[in-house]
Amino acid sequence: MIIAIDGTSAAGKGTLAKRLQDFFGFAYLDTGALYRAVGKKVLDSQNNPENATIATQIAQSLSPETMLCLQNDPSIRTEVCGAAASKVSAIPSVRQALFDFQRNFALNPVFEDGTPAKGAILDGRDIGTVVCPDAEIKLFLIASAEIRAKRRLKELQEKGIYAIYEDVLADVKKRDERDSNRAVAPLKPADDAFILDTSDLTVDSVFEQVIDFIKSKQKTVGTNQQAND
Ligand code: C5P
Repeated sequence: MIIAIDGTSAAGKGTLAKRLQDFFGFAYLDTGALYRAVGKKVLDSQNNPENATIATQIAQSLSPETMLCLQNDPSIRTEVCGAAASKVSAIPSVRQALFDFQRNFALNPVFEDGTPAKGAILDGRDIGTVVCPDAEIKLFLIASAEIRAKRRLKELQEKGIYAIYEDVLADVKKRDERDSNRAVAPLKPADDAFILDTSDLTVDSVFEQVIDFIKSKQKTVGTNQQAND
């Protein structure tokens, strides 16, 4: 089974993905980490994240082994890397360079030690629409920009990073605008995605609603299969 989780930044995708990972025992890929790593490497090389040639070379140089471990690298979690990720992710050849790894992970999911898993959870912006349009379960999480900015601010403060609410809010809105309006693989829900607004929901409530959706989906698939037999 493939579970695709897309949505805006700080809508709760990562938290939900980890809960589903524990529940189902599937392997999980945070695809944002791939774009963040490319963005960080471009910045580290003193280049502009909008430089398509450099960003593409860097994306092409990442080995599958490296890509599998990137989500554990804390250095890519800064706001600066998030903004750089949003810029490199608008470059079609960067997306192309990262596509095969994501697709292969979805079809042959493995844990970080290489052990095969019986299902995959991927989170990102275009998983249900581009990387895995065939995913059995497609989820799309949203939340108001103000709530997401508050969540992000809290995360930053917990890490001891000084930030101002107004700046974080402006950043969240800028990233939404860039991710939703880019020409290639823009952020949008798949036609068959379950759209959930997490603004006023607890983590438990999001998880419960998603589990109910997955159960109802599996019941429908079972009924259709019986009808075809
Ligand atoms: O999810 P996260 O905030 O780590 O993603 C960083 C950026 O990477 C996003 O703002 C988005 O521009 C880009 N991204 C993407 N496609 C994905 C995952 C992330 O374009 N599948």
